[in-house]
Amino acid sequence: MPKPEKHVFVCSQTRPDGHPRGCCAQKGGSDLLQAFWKELQKRNLFDRISVTYSGCLGPCDGGPNVVVYPEGVMYSQVTKDDVAAIFDEHLLGGQPLERLQCPPAIWG
Ligand code: FES
Repeated sequence: MPKPEKHVFVCSQTRPDGHPRGCCAQKGGSDLLQAFWKELQKRNLFDRISVTYSGCLGPCDGGPNVVVYPEGVMYSQVTKDDVAAIFDEHLLGGQPLERLQCPPAIWG
């Protein structure tokens, strides 16, 4: 298995209805994960990019959340419509998308 250049983690955390933190799965995280996998397949990038589901990434309020390594760039409120741009601009182009990035304060 080749070492991926980029590794994308898509939060698919579930929580019971009414949980105070909510969860990304209720906000479309599972569909988002499918959209990432579909795009990966469409572009045949399995040797360069990995996409993995994940549990809670931390800033639940802003979900669905996605984090990309090795940069550690966190995106929030990501929709299926953003997936192609993340591939084009960040995963292949090397420039993280400003408009979707979480504020740096989340890491404080
Ligand atoms: S549930 Fe997705 S970041 Fe917490």
